[in-house]
Amino acid sequence: MPIISRKGKAMPESPIRKLVPFAEKAAKAGKHIYHLNIGQPDIKTPIEAMEAVKNHTLDVLAYSHSAGFESFREKLAGYYAKHDITISSDDILITTGGSEALIFTMGSITDPGDEIIVPEPFYANYYSFSTQSTVKVVPVISTLENGFALPAIEQFEKLITDKTKAILICNPGNPTGYLYSKEEIKQLAKLAIKYDLFLISDEVYREFVYDDKEHYSILQEKDLNDHAIVVDSVSKRYSMCGARIGCMVSKNKSVMETAMKFAQARLSPPTFAQIASEAALEAPDSYYKDTVAKYKSRRDTLVSGLRKIPGVKVAMPKGAFYCIAELPVKDADHFAEWLLDKFDVNNQTVMVAPASGFYSSPNKGGNQVRIAYVLNRRDLTKAIEILRLALEKYNA
Ligand SMILES: Cc1ncc(COP(=O)(O)O)c(C=O)c1O
Repeated sequence: MPIISRKGKAMPESPIRKLVPFAEKAAKAGKHIYHLNIGQPDIKTPIEAMEAVKNHTLDVLAYSHSAGFESFREKLAGYYAKHDITISSDDILITTGGSEALIFTMGSITDPGDEIIVPEPFYANYYSFSTQSTVKVVPVISTLENGFALPAIEQFEKLITDKTKAILICNPGNPTGYLYSKEEIKQLAKLAIKYDLFLISDEVYREFVYDDKEHYSILQEKDLNDHAIVVDSVSKRYSMCGARIGCMVSKNKSVMETAMKFAQARLSPPTFAQIASEAALEAPDSYYKDTVAKYKSRRDTLVSGLRKIPGVKVAMPKGAFYCIAELPVKDADHFAEWLLDKFDVNNQTVMVAPASGFYSSPNKGGNQVRIAYVLNRRDLTKAIEILRLALEKYNA
């Protein structure tokens, strides 16, 4: 039998999807499942995007430019300008989702054995993409107790070696909901410049910030032009996860020229999805405003509901649409499985993502789960009640 690669064997399973067989079994048995496990928004995609696809005038569904439609990249530069980010269309490479932007970034800046420092817990696929690039993720721990704030800069500094190529942050954060302050970004920028590292910022949740806070992008740091790489996506912003469109943004010409070679190798990003994504930029300001207001009220419902459950701890997320909740259980992986396999309330149950998969350090997050607040408030309230009853029974 031919042998599977070490890299293939090392690829982690998605913590979000590994419970799917249990969910499928529960659904087959007729259970209704409230999905708190995955960041699939229920918000409507902008009508502008849907109409553009319906009204297309293409005769041939051709490849596009490897960097994506020029018209789309120009409009994107306009979108960034509205966020006080000055870039040109040449600084943007359209990718197949933010996922491909991460793959191109790692491919462009790392060699096997290089290291990337990432505040932990982190978006689980960072570990998958780094495994794919044979890069080592070096975690710097953030904790629920201080709301998953940026760990002290000395913690980062201690971890820098001659193999360190980059620091990767997610702002606002999945799975923590943490929003980095301008001061924190400035501290990271200083560090990146001091040690000549790349600072990669995954900003796919840029708009989703609450309580009148403002998002500060690494691209707003003037001195960081050679060091900053931003990963972006339409998936969450416009509820267009299935479009598979994102982009990589950097003013570092060598980075973009290198990424372009990866882009050429996969020929082009999907054409229809670019049509939809370009048109989504026409969505009125009210689309963003209404979406953010919805997520904020869902966050408030979720956090106040969770905090009423004995033994549950949760930090107030300042952005994105996730939180990490600590549960009064020893093994959240087992509890999540049990919820699907053994528990229901009137034939209804909830699905959560065990948080251990968002940590690369062993034995971390064992009693935590990640919850996505992508359901309407009525369903969220029901899901929280089911979770409360489940914890009571599980611990009885
Ligand atoms: C933080 C973060 N980055 C990147 C992605 C990848 O998004 P996509 O490939 O759908 O653009 C996701 C998806 O959930 C995410 O949460």
